[in-house]
Amino acid sequence: MKTIRTIAELRRELEGEVEVGLVPTMGALHDGHRSLFRAAREENNLVVASLFVNPAQFDQAADLAAYPRDEDADARVAGECGVDILFAPAGDELYPPGFGTWVDVEDAGAEGASRPGHFRGVATVCVKLFGIVRPVRAYFGQKDAQQAVVVRKLVRDLNLDVHVRVLPTVRDADGLALSSRNVRLDAAERATALALPRALARGREAYAGGGDAVAAARSSLNGLTPDYVEIVELDDVTILASAVRIGDIRLIDNVILKGDLS
Ligand code: PAJ
Repeated sequence: MKTIRTIAELRRELEGEVEVGLVPTMGALHDGHRSLFRAAREENNLVVASLFVNPAQFDQAADLAAYPRDEDADARVAGECGVDILFAPAGDELYPPGFGTWVDVEDAGAEGASRPGHFRGVATVCVKLFGIVRPVRAYFGQKDAQQAVVVRKLVRDLNLDVHVRVLPTVRDADGLALSSRNVRLDAAERATALALPRALARGREAYAGGGDAVAAARSSLNGLTPDYVEIVELDDVTILASAVRIGDIRLIDNVILKGDLS
């Protein structure tokens, strides 16, 4: 696997490649990212993973500062999963002085409402990465369902020629969705956090029985106060999504109520 830091070098390297798969990441790679790399490996000739902690999508400076970074470990994970090129640019390679064009996707749901500017940063960096890498397919996780909605919407609205693949959420054995933020939970907080996937499962059960998924999930959060519990529509898939805070750590998760993302 080759690590590339500049757009010019990446463009040279990709010249003549017809089937490139792109997996955008911010690093701190875990099994959720691994599943995206493996799918990309199976479905494309060449796999590019980007590793860029995108400052534009952090609404809190402290969250950006606390984001875990370990490029050597990430390079090992990506290499083991068959990634050909790790694109790991410095901040000013993607946002040079004078940068001033933003992609603003409307109606980004409760997640968008509770993190002002977040999806603008996500959408902008994704459009930039699509323009730089020109992938046939780009890979995203259902874990961040509203993000997947935003990316699918911008691809449609801006007529971008990329197929957005959304892969299932990878979970730990106890049910907690893998996240780079989980490493900051201590044992007690982790136990508390399990109420989130459990509540979503209760919501799914209620929905299957013709009941109110949102109400059932809300009442099963075991005292956790949610930022929101909402229904998200992704094409013809219906998802129940929620965000909670445990101390200063914000966790999001969701389950499919109806349909199939794959
Ligand atoms: P990051 O949090 O690193 O996630 C990269 C991709 O991995 C996203 O598509 C995310 O949905 C997926 N992912 C994370 N945890 C997962 C899990 N447990 N199971 C399955 N997939 C999972 O999301 C971002 O980075 C950024 O917003 C990015 C898209 C790179 C733009 O900066």
